[in-house]
Amino acid sequence: MADRIGIGILGFGTVGQAVARILLEDAAAMEARTGLRLELRHVVARDLTKPREVTLPDDVLSADPARMFSDCETQIVVELIGGVDRAKELIRAALQAGKDVVTANKALLATAPREIFSAARTAGRCIAFEASVAGCIPIIESVRRGLVANRIDAVHGILNGTCNYILTRMLDDGISYAEVLADAQRLGYAEADPTLDVDGTDSAHKLAILASIAVRQSCELDRVQVEGITNIELNDLAEGRDLGYVCKLLASARRHDDGLELTVAPTFVPREHPLAAVSGPFNAISVYGSAAGHAFFYGRGAGGMPTASAVISDIVDTAIGNARRTFEQLVALPDQTPSAKYRTTGESIARHYLRIGLLDRPGGIGRIAAALGAEGISIATITQHEPPRDSATHVVPVIVTTHPVKRIAIDRAVAAMTTIKGVVGRPVCIPVFTGETDAK
Ligand code: HSE
Repeated sequence: MADRIGIGILGFGTVGQAVARILLEDAAAMEARTGLRLELRHVVARDLTKPREVTLPDDVLSADPARMFSDCETQIVVELIGGVDRAKELIRAALQAGKDVVTANKALLATAPREIFSAARTAGRCIAFEASVAGCIPIIESVRRGLVANRIDAVHGILNGTCNYILTRMLDDGISYAEVLADAQRLGYAEADPTLDVDGTDSAHKLAILASIAVRQSCELDRVQVEGITNIELNDLAEGRDLGYVCKLLASARRHDDGLELTVAPTFVPREHPLAAVSGPFNAISVYGSAAGHAFFYGRGAGGMPTASAVISDIVDTAIGNARRTFEQLVALPDQTPSAKYRTTGESIARHYLRIGLLDRPGGIGRIAAALGAEGISIATITQHEPPRDSATHVVPVIVTTHPVKRIAIDRAVAAMTTIKGVVGRPVCIPVFTGETDAK
């Protein structure tokens, strides 16, 4: 006779419905695979009248979480409502009611990790959160257990499916940012507030969680230097392609001798690196470990079913006691580890791409070159394009690539350029990823 495990889901949106679908429709296959009978006993939603794609058995759907918390046959509560405050309150209530928790809530885990994990320890319960980072890819499990033999020196991830989808389709189909974003929302990739996707916040949440596990130090969200994709234009993507690069919103944690560096930024990835081939809503993570060397993980990072795949794996892991053992024994969670020591901002060294809007007048290029030279920046290539035929403004894009240089020097040069006669707007600056050599 299979063990029966009662499950309650908080939230019945894209992911909640996908989890319910698997639990209901694949129950027999899940039982055959795991020896567990996973019984969906409660789903809590705010709006009970909204049309949904999954039909639940009678008496499962309600608007009242207390019913789920007081049901002694529900052992696992799955939090899928997202957001911070209400989710925190519900997770605390579930733990206090003696439930183990599975969550996909990256915003909560990144903003209040110590509070959430210690609440679970105080209650003698555990929290599993594979689905909070990179959708279906089992990256938390892989980094925490599979790569336990390694000192992890660097993690570079494409962690936001919406941004990757936007960057891919803008270039492939030559369509505007706004049009592609609307598609990403329709396909269920984007957050309820898509600003969190495009301004880099969602990637920063995931990076703070992943990096904390990878480097076994507590990585605070406010130490992630974040830049989103909102200033990237189709021109930049096309220029990058001509230079042999693909633009990705890259979330990186790098261990250096002088401290850890956490960044989220649009980055030009050389075409030869596997991260460059990751397109559409897919996520991928390159991990550089002391024993393993380079390990690469790839899969769907957004959408209902891929995320549900990770949620169900956490449910099974919790049901068989693995999640609890990992939670208790493997010291890698921010409530047990010291704060990371961080590298001073601006010390990272990389090649950079610059696009500068310049009035096509005598001396313009000279002034740009002088601003770069004044910061000790060596130009690798420089191209001034013809102005568009119908342009009355005579503003031309000037594309510069630099030799490796500290970020602080680039930032100073960009600030100086905004005051130069003939430079129009703020130059766009995109670092170039150098892969494994970035690791130390
Ligand atoms: N909005 C997120 C993304 C969903 O686009 O990656 C998965 O966390």
